[in-house]
Amino acid sequence: MGTSNIVLIGFMGSGKSTVGKVLAPRLGKKFVDLDHMIVERAGRSIADIFATDGEAAFRQMESQVLADVLANTEQVISTGGGAVLAEANRQLMRENGLVVWLRTDVDVLIQRMQYDTTRPLLQGDAKANITRILEERREAYNFATLEIDTGRLSVEEAVQAIANYYKQAE
Ligand code: S3P
Repeated sequence: MGTSNIVLIGFMGSGKSTVGKVLAPRLGKKFVDLDHMIVERAGRSIADIFATDGEAAFRQMESQVLADVLANTEQVISTGGGAVLAEANRQLMRENGLVVWLRTDVDVLIQRMQYDTTRPLLQGDAKANITRILEERREAYNFATLEIDTGRLSVEEAVQAIANYYKQAE
């Protein structure tokens, strides 16, 4: 396992970007947001990519960007909630980084995202969609090496828990 990268996985709204932005400078690493990189490369928003090209096309771009990013080292990478769905992606993450699952209760996710207007998969009845997708992905994140409950911890506490684990595993 290459541990110089830390790969944050977890459901939408679990705090991957928020935690990653604080964690990266703490460990002297670069912060990379996969969703932002996809948007930059495509020159379009994620909602636009889903609407125009469909989810399958988005997943292809996501896998490509993930592979490109994981060719580099010394990064904290926040991934999109669905980046774990492809087995090839999961394997790449584990081979090239410490995979950390930011875990959050359904109630907290609903509270955070019930009025979300940006995530294509949540549009319509966000609450029902969160519950359904969580159920569909029940097993999707448990390949991670470390699990952190971001529903119970503050951002700072989550950052410290990951940083401590990383330093001791190094
Ligand atoms: C998705 C999560 C989103 C984004 C896209 C699809 C998913 O990222 O990649 O809307 O399938 O869970 P966040 O987890 O950062 O919201």
